[in-house]
Amino acid sequence: MAEHSKYTRKVQEIVPAAARTIASLRDIGYDTPHAIADVVDNSIAAGATEVDVSFAFAGERSWIRVTDNGLGMDGGTLQEALRYGSAREYAADDLGKFGFGLKTASTSQCRRVTVASRRARQNARLEVRCLDLEHIEETSRWEILVLDSADRPGDVTAPLQAHTGTVVLWEDLDRILEYKDPWGEWARKKLLSLAAEVDQHLAMVFHRFLSGEVKDRPPVRITINGKSKVEPWDPFCRSEPKTDQSIPAKNLKVVGDGGIGFVRVNSYVLPAQRDFSSDTAWRRASGPMQWNRQQGLYIYRANRMIQSGGWNRIRAQDEHTKLARMSVDFFPNLDSVFGINIAKAYVNLPQDLREQLQPLITQCTRAADQKYRNDRPKSGTGGASASAVPARSTRKARSDGGMEFGTGAFDPYGNRQDIVQPHTTPREAIEEVAENVGETVALKKIIGGLLARHPEVARDLGW
Ligand SMILES: Nc1ncnc2c1ncn2[C@@H]1O[C@H](COP(=O)(O)OP(=O)(O)O)[C@@H](O)[C@H]1O
Ligand SMILES: [Mg+2]
Repeated sequence: MAEHSKYTRKVQEIVPAAARTIASLRDIGYDTPHAIADVVDNSIAAGATEVDVSFAFAGERSWIRVTDNGLGMDGGTLQEALRYGSAREYAADDLGKFGFGLKTASTSQCRRVTVASRRARQNARLEVRCLDLEHIEETSRWEILVLDSADRPGDVTAPLQAHTGTVVLWEDLDRILEYKDPWGEWARKKLLSLAAEVDQHLAMVFHRFLSGEVKDRPPVRITINGKSKVEPWDPFCRSEPKTDQSIPAKNLKVVGDGGIGFVRVNSYVLPAQRDFSSDTAWRRASGPMQWNRQQGLYIYRANRMIQSGGWNRIRAQDEHTKLARMSVDFFPNLDSVFGINIAKAYVNLPQDLREQLQPLITQCTRAADQKYRNDRPKSGTGGASASAVPARSTRKARSDGGMEFGTGAFDPYGNRQDIVQPHTTPREAIEEVAENVGETVALKKIIGGLLARHPEVARDLGW
C-alpha cells in the first residue's frame, strides 16, 4: 500500500489470463510489412548499421527472420524484452515506446518467435529465448522458454557468430501461410510477393535512415534475403532537379502532455511527368499506392515514417493535386498529441494542428495544381487538336441537359464534389473508397490474396 494513500484499501491482484490475453493481442492491426517494420525499429534503436530480413519457404516449416548487428542484449535484458509492457528508459528520439512491439508484431504473424542475442564483442556467448503460443495455451502462464545450446535452431544462432546483435526468428507462420497445401505453389508465391512488399515498405518508412540523413547516425543498410539491398524511397524526390522546394519550411507550435513541442512542416511540389529526369524515376516516384493516393502528408515520428500520404480528411485527394507531398515531423514528446498506436500504423491530427496545417496545405496544393495544369496540353488550339486531347477536365452542359466532359480550364478550388474523374480505373476507384472508409490495410491484404490466388483478376483490375 502506497504511503501517500489516505485510506487503507484491501486489494486483490488479478493477473490477466495468459492464453486468452495473448491470443487477443494478436489482432491489434498489423499487416506483415508493418509487423516487420516494428521489429526493424528495434534493430535501428539498438544502433544497428546492418539489418537483414530473410524469407525461407519450407512448407509448414517456412520462416521469416530479422537479423541485426546492433548492441545486442544480455540474458536479463532479453528476458525483459519478451515481457509484454517491457520497461526501459527511452531516449528523446527513441523509436520504441510501449514495450509491446516485438511481441505483438511477431505474434500477429506467427505462433513461435525465437530471439537470440549477443552482447559481448569478445566472445560469441548467446542468449536465446522463445515465446511459444503453444506453450502458453497449454499452461496459460506468462512463460518463455530458455533455449540451451542443444535446442537452439541453427537459423537463429548462425548469423551471430561474427558480430554482436540480435536475431528474431518467426516460425509457424499461421497468419501468413493459411493454405490448405502448405507446400503448394500459392504458399510459395505468397512468401515471394511478401518479400517484395516488405522491401517496398521498408524502403519507404526508413528512407531517412537508409540514405544516412538522420543526424548523428551512420546510414543503415537493409537487405532482403541477404543480398538485395533496400534502396531508400524519398517521397519528395529531392534529388530531382525540377522538384519545387521553394515553399519555406514552418515550425508549428503544439501543446502536448509534456509541454510545448514543435511540428516541422516542409512542402514539396514534385515535377510533372515530362519534367522527371527519366521515365523510370517517374514510375518509382509514384510509390506503392500510385500517384493519386500518395499525395498528401508524410508524417514522421523521430525520422521514422508512420503515415505515407493522404490528407487526414482535411481535403480530398484528387488528380489535380497529385504532385503535392508534405512532410510533417514530430518527436516522441508529442506522442500523446498524435495519438500514436502500438502498430505505429495510424496517427490522429489534433484540431489545433489541423487548423495550422490548413493554410500550408492550401499553398502547396495550389502550387501543385498550377504545375499539373501547365503540364496538360492546352485546349482551344484548333478543333482537330482539341478533340484529339483526351477529355478530362471541365464539364459542360449537353443539349439534353446532361453533362459531358470538355477540355477547358476550370476553377479547381470550386465545389470539389462536382468534379468527376472521367478516367477513374477500377483500381483507382477501389483504392479511393478503401482510403475513404479507412480500410487501406484490409485492401492491401485483399490485393495480396488476389495476386496469390487469382493473379489474372488482379491484373484485370490494374494491380
Ligand atoms: N533488436 C534488438 N536489439 C536490442 N534490443 C532489443 C531488440 N529488440 C528488442 N529489444 C529490447 O526489447 C525491448 C522491447 O521491445 P518492444 O517490445 O519492441 O518495445 P519497445 O520498442 O516499445 O521498447 C526494447 O525496448 C529493447 O530494449
Ligand atoms: Mg519496438
